[in-house]
Amino acid sequence: MVRKLPIAIKSSWKFTYFMCGIVGYIGKQKAAPLILEGLKRLEYRGYDSAGIAVFQDGSFDIAKKVGRVSALEKEVPRYRLVGTCGMGHTRWATHGSITDANAHPHLSYDGKVALTHNGVIENYASIKKFLITKGHTFRSETDTEVLCNLIAYHYAKQAGLAGENRFVTAVRKSLHHTQGTYGIVAMNVDAPGELVTARKGSPLVFGIGEGESLVASDVSAIVSRTQNVVYLKNGEIAHLTLKNFSITTLDADEVSPVIDRVCWSIVSAELGAYHHFMEKEIFEQPAALKNTMRGRFSEDGSTALFGGLNVTANEFSGIERLMFCACGTALHACLVTEHLIESFARIPVECDYASEFRYRNAPLARNTLFFVMSQSGETIDTLAAMREAKRKGYRVLAINNVVGSSIAREADGGIYQHVGPEIGVASTKAFTSQLLLGAMLALYLARMRDMSFGSGVRYVEALKGAPDLVRKVLEQAPHIKKIAQRFAHSTDMLFLGRMSLFHIALEGALKLKETSYLHAEGYPAAEMKHGPIALISETCPSVFFAPAGEIFNKIVSSMQEIKARRGPIIAILSEGGELPPGLADEVIIIPECHEAVLPIVASVPVQLLSYYIAAERGCDIDKPRNLAKSVTVE
Ligand code: AGP
Repeated sequence: MVRKLPIAIKSSWKFTYFMCGIVGYIGKQKAAPLILEGLKRLEYRGYDSAGIAVFQDGSFDIAKKVGRVSALEKEVPRYRLVGTCGMGHTRWATHGSITDANAHPHLSYDGKVALTHNGVIENYASIKKFLITKGHTFRSETDTEVLCNLIAYHYAKQAGLAGENRFVTAVRKSLHHTQGTYGIVAMNVDAPGELVTARKGSPLVFGIGEGESLVASDVSAIVSRTQNVVYLKNGEIAHLTLKNFSITTLDADEVSPVIDRVCWSIVSAELGAYHHFMEKEIFEQPAALKNTMRGRFSEDGSTALFGGLNVTANEFSGIERLMFCACGTALHACLVTEHLIESFARIPVECDYASEFRYRNAPLARNTLFFVMSQSGETIDTLAAMREAKRKGYRVLAINNVVGSSIAREADGGIYQHVGPEIGVASTKAFTSQLLLGAMLALYLARMRDMSFGSGVRYVEALKGAPDLVRKVLEQAPHIKKIAQRFAHSTDMLFLGRMSLFHIALEGALKLKETSYLHAEGYPAAEMKHGPIALISETCPSVFFAPAGEIFNKIVSSMQEIKARRGPIIAILSEGGELPPGLADEVIIIPECHEAVLPIVASVPVQLLSYYIAAERGCDIDKPRNLAKSVTVE
């Protein structure tokens, strides 16, 4: 049955990330400029090549180009591309090298079906063999072209079925034969003005506008046209026409759609006065931290509250161990969380790379609570680790930014970060928000155990002060920019810290590597002399975290070891901290703060340092080479 609009509108904001970006449009406007605009917003998902297909005069006009969407845009005038129904794709290569031929959309050998795809068709080789026996020919090395031809094959076989049913049935039958993940948009030459879209693993959302429908990998590509959207679920197929839409499952059961209302506007996904999203997101941190905390402290101000954990206080107090899994930056947030939970709540915590945990068959104690952290909620290794833990019977909770992500949906409960869309590939505001939630979790667990009311109140007050402290560090941006300019052309850089700031050292090194392609390593400051000290030279500066506290003098000793070997030193000191004269080449001051807030405050200078070094080196900061915002393939 086809559903007419409007249907009940539910209010929420959602934002989803994945590798490769897809945009489709049907309406009364020329499709190509709208698709290109949408693709530009999805470029953070992949930017090896881009392509666009528009239906016109009984066939598809397809333009494809290696490189960024801007390269494709330059190509577009060579084509007519005047039709009002089309789709586009920005690619992060999985199967097949980065060539124009491998770029999407793909066209079936008979020219009947055009397809864009995000994901991996694992059994494409056997399907391809079969299709070759049926006379299909291929122009690319991609799994997507194979799926496109499989749809064409089933479409040809459904010749007895009428109109829309025939194409949707062909897509459904094809998807039944595929293993792997997909988010697809398909068009059929016999049904102009229609799009068929389906997903398994890779996210897809479609928007219902005034006399037009759009489909995309995430709402940022369509929110400028409509805020009424439907998030497609795994195993669903949507059939969109100019006037209506229908959703069915892979088994052809009808689905009642829920239309969500996106509550953020396109402005939050735009740069405004900033040069890069990374810069914007660094400066958004005071507001992001406030949003993460909002409504999450008890009335007496002595502990944290979490609405969506689905674990009772009683169950929580019986927990004997916690396990955290994540990837990249999110893993660094888990490591800091481990430190805080162990030191304040005295509960043993283990952290692991999600990619390792999923295969290493780790024994877990029975009353272990399992957490995953993920900004996007789509990282495949984190998702797999979570499924593995669930398979073993553990309750899994998620700390996640993207509402409605795969991880959020599959977790038994969780905490949303509420920091809004993070677009820069290098995670910044999502990281400090995860640090904050880790600190709040440590407080919550500690207050169930030995932490006194007074200590709880002081802890809460400290967390509430975090946004202002971060703002103070941000005021030093011009100073940090000068330091970045001085050291931007170093050969290597070490980030050294102790305790929780060792993990911020790891994060500092990751941030610098991914944004500026400068070799960097994070190390525990005292461990440095067991190996990395060999790197020290005049062109290898060391960034030391040296906050006030009991191990300040130990860190100063490590600095002296570096200085004795002519290594330049950038010291991050607490207000009032003093070093022997001449020891540091540059000093960045951070406000003195509570142990739970220190990792957040200490992250900001290294984020700024990485950002300005990358800018000085002329790097593509928001879209570093070889990277994508969310890694959804193994
Ligand atoms: C962050 O700067 C990195 N781009 C990357 O390490 C990222 O944190 C990692 O891929 C995990 O992503 P997630 O939080 O979306 O799961």
